[in-house]
Amino acid sequence: LVESKDGMVDITAQQGTTEIFKGVQTETLGYNGSFLGPVIRINKGEKVTFRTGNEMSEPTTFHWHGVEIPGEGDGGPHQVIQPGEAKDVEFTVNQGAATLWFHPHPVGATAEQVYKGLAGFIYVEDENSKKLRLPDEYGVNDFPVVFQDRQFTEEKQFDYQAVLNEDGTIGDTLLINGTLNPKLTVGKENVRLRLLNGSNARNYTFKLNTGDSFQQIATDGGLVNEPNEMDEITLTPGERAEIIVDFSKYNAESDIALVNEVDTILLPFKIEGQKTNSIEIPETLNDYVVTEEEKNLPVTKKLELFGMGKMVYINGKQFDMNRIDFTQKQGETEIWEIYNKPDKMGGMTHPFHIHGTQFKIVSIDGKEPPISQQGWKDSIGVEAGQTVKLAVQFNNKGVYMFHCHILEHEENGMMGQVEVI
Ligand code: C2O
Ligand code: CU
Ligand code: CU
Repeated sequence: LVESKDGMVDITAQQGTTEIFKGVQTETLGYNGSFLGPVIRINKGEKVTFRTGNEMSEPTTFHWHGVEIPGEGDGGPHQVIQPGEAKDVEFTVNQGAATLWFHPHPVGATAEQVYKGLAGFIYVEDENSKKLRLPDEYGVNDFPVVFQDRQFTEEKQFDYQAVLNEDGTIGDTLLINGTLNPKLTVGKENVRLRLLNGSNARNYTFKLNTGDSFQQIATDGGLVNEPNEMDEITLTPGERAEIIVDFSKYNAESDIALVNEVDTILLPFKIEGQKTNSIEIPETLNDYVVTEEEKNLPVTKKLELFGMGKMVYINGKQFDMNRIDFTQKQGETEIWEIYNKPDKMGGMTHPFHIHGTQFKIVSIDGKEPPISQQGWKDSIGVEAGQTVKLAVQFNNKGVYMFHCHILEHEENGMMGQVEVI
């Protein structure tokens, strides 16, 4: 956990080796270490400088996924940091409490650099989140949990197979916070899990093996209005959700785990200690609203997602660094309509993401989004055949990417640029 010191946060991309498998060193990438990155905690209203450095032998960029930051600091493909270079990114935090993340974004190497370990969390806190009593003791009752499936060679090195699998490198080995077969030790209390799907292409549907429900308290970009009681929650690549699991009803002998939809164990829990004074989840968490005005705004930007593999397009086009696809005025809300056009075989879900903003989902196929998506979002899994309407506002100027967050689709050109003027 890294807190800013007088607003300064050092973040250096490094390469090294990590013992993921006992007795074997795997070549990995990381921020401020050899694998993955720290959790950075920043506060609304605070002036922050991210002091970024590249100690790797290849170029990279530093992208702050979900952060409302001026385009020049967003870390998209234009803002390359060469090996040995450093750069300060300054901005004022101007968004509500949320669990965000950061990762590289260089053209041609985003997917592979993330695959090898470049990813970290950013927590934003605000007055509201500090006032609310939520579990917030890092590593005690508040845990970042990133899920990444990986493929390894026989020598236990990352087997990055973008050529073999153009729809995203998927793996048979799950790493959680970079760890193989982890077990999370928790107390008999309400525990907050900040879930991030940090996989390149795989979707997860999280459930408890007991069938018990849990409370969802946040979407990608902020707290929901009231805790949502859920049996399961699906996250496509890049999406986050915060959930609270009540472990007070289990004991040390309980066999409890977070599982995927097909009941494969993802994360088993080990319960320790006596029942403590669990933090009660407040009934009201936020005041998110999609206004009548927003519901009635006309569609002013249309995007058609189409394709698979290397043939992936937005409005029939593939990414071009030198082409601005849309412009939008700073501070103005526009309705973006995203249509995922099926192909003869049906098509696939594309997790659609926009940089530099948190948007609201106005509708999915003309209907209100499910309760789990009623909150600030920066990514949304758009299923084949679906049409979603998003109310999008940028509070800063600059050039921002929008793309499919299946990182190999992004790499294959399923990305465009909006310039905010
Ligand atoms: Cu996670 Cu271009 O973003
Ligand atoms: Cu992003
Ligand atoms: Cu896609």
